[in-house]
Amino acid sequence: MENQVQQKKTIFSGIQPSGTLTIGNYIGALRNFALLQDDYNCIYCVVDMHAITVRQDAAQLRKRCLEVAATYMACGLDPKKNIIYCQSHVSGHAELSWILNCFTYMGELQRMTQYKDKAAKHADNINAGLFTYPVLMAADILLYQADLVPIGADQKQHLELTRDIAQRFNGVYGDVFTVPEGYFGKIGSRIMSLQEPTRKMSKSDPDDCYIAILDPEDAIRRKIKRAVTDSDGEIRFDPENKPGVSNLLSIIAAMSNSSIEETVSKLQGQGYGSLKNYCTEVVLDTLRPIQAEHAKLMADKAYLQSVLMENAERANAIATRTLRKVQKKIGFAERIKK
Ligand code: TYM
Repeated sequence: MENQVQQKKTIFSGIQPSGTLTIGNYIGALRNFALLQDDYNCIYCVVDMHAITVRQDAAQLRKRCLEVAATYMACGLDPKKNIIYCQSHVSGHAELSWILNCFTYMGELQRMTQYKDKAAKHADNINAGLFTYPVLMAADILLYQADLVPIGADQKQHLELTRDIAQRFNGVYGDVFTVPEGYFGKIGSRIMSLQEPTRKMSKSDPDDCYIAILDPEDAIRRKIKRAVTDSDGEIRFDPENKPGVSNLLSIIAAMSNSSIEETVSKLQGQGYGSLKNYCTEVVLDTLRPIQAEHAKLMADKAYLQSVLMENAERANAIATRTLRKVQKKIGFAERIKK
């Protein structure tokens, strides 16, 4: 048994506690976390240090960290099987991030599309953390020697940079880091805005563009009813020419665990009203149990906090192993063993 645990590969992923989580986060990331948890050693982080690259209200941030942890668990992640913890509770993230900063080029960071988008959105606060954000993400992943990183399509560029940094470091010091692969779900690695379906669904857009995991039923009904479609009236999967309809089909397929083909054939010949009704029912069926479990967990903050604390210790033990190896390789003086 112990051997089996040892032989399992490692997964690492994270979500920012910077706003309400959407069904984009659920379909692109969370759903896959839950699907993968039996076959891997999984580490799922609440990346609060990433969140402060944009100004946050302190009380809100504290609450949202617990909310994201509760969402992980409400989506089916078992905190005994998986390590669920807050990034800021394990100091190795910041320490490795600094070291990796010295192995990352300005030009690489300047090319990051998320940096360019966020810098445009927060022109009054283009801080250095926003710029080096992807290096902290690389540190998150490499600290745990992760083999696989389940993420949505928008994080692909950051993962590629992580691989480049790992390979660069390994090229100098030998095989220190596992070079991670991305895991992208077959369906829904890019869920689009309900109002502008050529853009990614994002929690920072106006409220009717996204469905929050914790949205009440009436809001979900209203938002899907108003979702932008097109005028040709045919239910067909064609993201380029029919982005709105294709997005609803992806949401249905992902949330009902079926393929796009099955979903299209089920709805073929019907109107957009039926498509939206069906989408609404599937979304509600998926979110209802998650919302109920989330409410239960949030009512017991002491339990949530104890989970985060215990899990941070487990994470810290793994992270420290990698960090010490890295520090030794680059020539930091030996430290007293405790
Ligand atoms: P974040 O917090 O923006 O999003 C969390 C996860 O949700 C995915 N996602 C989506 N997937 C499909 N469609 C969408 N519309 C959509 N919106 C978001 C994201 O791709 C992500 O997987 N930098 C990361 C957090 C992070 C991280 C890490 C991830 C920090 N360190 C280490 C993996 C490994 C971020 O901002 O995700």
